[in-house]
Amino acid sequence: MLKTCSPASPLPGEDLAAELESGKILFFAEPPFPIPDRELFNGLDPGRARFHKNIAYRPASRRLTGASGIPSGQRAPLRSALERYSSNAVSFLARLFPRYAPAWRIDYASFRPFEEEGRPLSPKARNDLVHVDSFPSRPTEGDRILRFFTNVHREKPRVWISGGTFDRLAERYAVASGILPHVTAIRPPGVLARALAAVGLRKGIRSRYDEFMLRFHDYLKENEELQAEARREPFSFPPGSTWIAYTDMVSHGVLSGQSALEQTMIISKSTMALPEKAPIAILERLSGEPLA
Ligand SMILES: [Fe+2]
Repeated sequence: MLKTCSPASPLPGEDLAAELESGKILFFAEPPFPIPDRELFNGLDPGRARFHKNIAYRPASRRLTGASGIPSGQRAPLRSALERYSSNAVSFLARLFPRYAPAWRIDYASFRPFEEEGRPLSPKARNDLVHVDSFPSRPTEGDRILRFFTNVHREKPRVWISGGTFDRLAERYAVASGILPHVTAIRPPGVLARALAAVGLRKGIRSRYDEFMLRFHDYLKENEELQAEARREPFSFPPGSTWIAYTDMVSHGVLSGQSALEQTMIISKSTMALPEKAPIAILERLSGEPLA
């Protein structure tokens, strides 16, 4: 599942987009660009920020959110550090994946300061339960969720588990769970509803694809058989390492680790190297229906 890459990646003839879309996690043992703020990230006391899941940085508005527990004097340096990380990650990804860059959307970056082991989160929010990602408030209509992570902790590895890739999970559970039959029975939003949503006069329109992915996320987290299987083979990302994955494809959970950075990109389904491997294509094949 892990493909070790060199800082010189991509090597001539290497098609990293195809590997990523097939469900590989691209792994770099060292950060692929300097991270001068590692000490700052490790020195922060997240304090009362504990009631937020993560601290997010929004590149488009250059805003920091979820950081209310960070002492006010430390917020500006944290924002600058996340801004640097975000822009370096985006430039690095543009070099690695020139086919995606013209149509991608730069989503949030995040700092995950909390120890993951034993975090008191609700079952749907728990990070240690295997799932595939889907965003309740930012539907993708079949576009993809690509995530770039770096473990910036001084000593602790970040330990992940996986229950395999989306194609296998969909084959096993999409129909058997009842979720795919349920969403294909929903009527797609009409022209008027879509037009109102486009001008912001109506909220809550979610494609059948997004509806499926949200329900599937929760279903996988509640699936004890899958959770038990995944826990048999943890794997870890050492301090300083960086990894890239389609987290709507590679199921994942985090067992332990602290201080990770992350940049999310939304990749247009029109730029896929292997469009037939995208979750939306897999679900449309299984259901015989258009889902977005
Ligand atoms: Fe996730």
